[in-house]
Amino acid sequence: WKMEEINDYLCKYKGYVFAVGMTTAEHIDSLQSFEIRERDVFLVTYPKSGTIWAQNIIALIFELDDTDETIYENNLEKMPWLEYPEGHSDYVSRPSPRLFASHLTPALMPRGLKGKKAKIVYVARNPKDNVVSYFHFCHAWTSLETPKIGGSSWFDHIREWHTHRDEYSILFLTYEDMVMDLRSAVVKISQFLGRDLSEAMLTHIIEKATFKNMKKDPKANYEFLPEDLLQKGKFLRKGIIGDWKNSFTVAQNEMFDQVYQEKMKDIPFKFIWNI
Ligand code: A3P
Repeated sequence: WKMEEINDYLCKYKGYVFAVGMTTAEHIDSLQSFEIRERDVFLVTYPKSGTIWAQNIIALIFELDDTDETIYENNLEKMPWLEYPEGHSDYVSRPSPRLFASHLTPALMPRGLKGKKAKIVYVARNPKDNVVSYFHFCHAWTSLETPKIGGSSWFDHIREWHTHRDEYSILFLTYEDMVMDLRSAVVKISQFLGRDLSEAMLTHIIEKATFKNMKKDPKANYEFLPEDLLQKGKFLRKGIIGDWKNSFTVAQNEMFDQVYQEKMKDIPFKFIWNI
């Protein structure tokens, strides 16, 4: 029941790296028996894959359900991280539909999800852009330093979720799908979540979810996080496909391709690397 300290900011538990002070081993263990409800929605991603983007889309899809008691100040309140309950003590008492985000691997997720009662939206991003985004984020997140990053390895995350996909009710989507055709991505997500959107609602969501508008949206841009934790304006950095080409050397790219081919050879995931 103890987390193993890595440094002042990161700790390890059951093979997964967590932020110090934001969760406990007891909480992570308790998630195993966390009771799942039929209308629960989980967004699962590897960090820097477009989490807050998909979170905003899902939050907007469920905006229609908001009543005075369920209007949250921002997307983090509306769709908190399952593994980081800090400041959200109401996971059990929250009215349905409850929305959660998570970066966890399947082994650490509630066992009840395997009953396929609740829905999981999984967003993956091509790992070259993912790592570049993470690199920049580490510099903006005051307590992170490369190469010690939170979570698991990108390869393990995608492998685990893909291998166990039949045990869950899960929709796989890529960041690149969202960049290339946001409308289709929103329709796909809303249909999967069983939400019929009117044409006006769909247009409203797409408008709110563009990079430019989200960056200005205080509910969605994460500038509500304290500045001593994260520099302002860093969550929405560039929002494009292929930025890795500005950072990778030719040799790094070749090495990356080799590792990628080796590790992903049995995983039929096709990514778009440039447009
Ligand atoms: P970049 O650093 O490449 O710009 P996460 O939310 O998982 O931390 O992912 C952050 C990445 O998603 C950042 O990538 C960010 O710019 C991108 N992103 C967030 N909202 C976006 C949007 N509306 N459109 C395009 N990209 C977005």
